[in-house]
Amino acid sequence: MTSSSTTRFGVIGTGGIASVMTSDIALLPDVEVVAVGSRSAASAERFAGAHGVPRAHGSYADLVADPDVDAVYVATPHPGHLDAALLAIEAGKAVLIEKPFTMNAAQAREIVDAARARGVFCMEAMWTRFLPHVLRIRELVAAGALGEITTVTADHDQWFAFDPEHRLFSPELGGGALLDLGVYPVSFASMLLGTPSQVTARADFGPTGVDAQTSMIFEYASGAHAVLSTTMRAAGPCQAAIVGTEGRIEIDTTWYAPTSFVFRPRVGEPEVWTEEPAPDEHKGLRFEAAEVARCLREGLTESPAMPLDETVAIMETLDQVRDQIGLTYPGL
Ligand SMILES: NC(=O)c1ccc[n+]([C@@H]2O[C@H](COP(=O)([O-])OP(=O)(O)OC[C@H]3O[C@@H](n4cnc5c(N)ncnc54)[C@H](OP(=O)(O)O)[C@@H]3O)[C@@H](O)[C@H]2O)c1
Repeated sequence: MTSSSTTRFGVIGTGGIASVMTSDIALLPDVEVVAVGSRSAASAERFAGAHGVPRAHGSYADLVADPDVDAVYVATPHPGHLDAALLAIEAGKAVLIEKPFTMNAAQAREIVDAARARGVFCMEAMWTRFLPHVLRIRELVAAGALGEITTVTADHDQWFAFDPEHRLFSPELGGGALLDLGVYPVSFASMLLGTPSQVTARADFGPTGVDAQTSMIFEYASGAHAVLSTTMRAAGPCQAAIVGTEGRIEIDTTWYAPTSFVFRPRVGEPEVWTEEPAPDEHKGLRFEAAEVARCLREGLTESPAMPLDETVAIMETLDQVRDQIGLTYPGL
């Protein structure tokens, strides 16, 4: 349980996604960002001032020790997720960890074991899982509207200006398309089809030694296939489809953000699903924060929509893809 009816978040890191999450949480009535922690006091002060956050801490250790923080949101580059998450768990705090959960499955298991041993809530911040259109799609799939799923397709293709210093291109900061962008289609396929029995992957590497583009085919015991791709060199359609024996769902651009979809039954008229009012595709992180709050109120230590065993399985699949394409990181 949280100590009041409001769930109070503390944010670790003062970068891009920490800002977006803090702004989006401000739209929720019962969730609040009450503190921020940074490697530098100046950056924490700046962030707190910009977002109206009451307390600024000049270290992550001080943030997790803040008695007014119920849940810690880890928003550092991926190689920092492990240490920050363990810090929060050791302090007895619930923890929401940005995607990818960790750099590899071994690190993911370490966090999950620690959270379970301490009895605290823990969840991967895969925001797509909690978006209204995805919740509706899960209902349709569970109701059998698609019949047996044969194929899942999804791309996550974005253009980023090449900058060897930026975390996306830096091996030391866990760069590359797969872990940053490819984790979305991999998680989407996992949500719909489970763990693949066979993984085939190909990649093209950029000048800094991380993957610029990766394509994947996953095969499943049911006979289904997932055909997934990611690049950070070009803006692709960012669309997804779930194809089944009785119908298909086509998710519009940008499928992993708030958007609309069409359900096309094999027999019958198509149905268009849209959110009213029209969603802003740049907003929607608050839904996962609301899920954390709900789980804490209900005394859950993990979310049924994004279970920890599945997060570990997703990291195992990403490890298999990395093995096949030869994507390694310093010190790992
Ligand atoms: N859900 C989404 O839509 C989404 C979107 C973008 C990113 N993400 C995820 O969020 C995480 C952070 O991404 P971001 O784009 O916010 O990154 P960013 O803008 O580079 O910010 C990361 C922050 O982490 C802290 N940090 C700790 N160690 C660091 C290091 N060695 N180098 C640089 N910064 C370090 C810094 O804050 P202090 O110096 O204040 O400690 C920094 O401001 C990544 O894991 C990414 O995959 C998710």
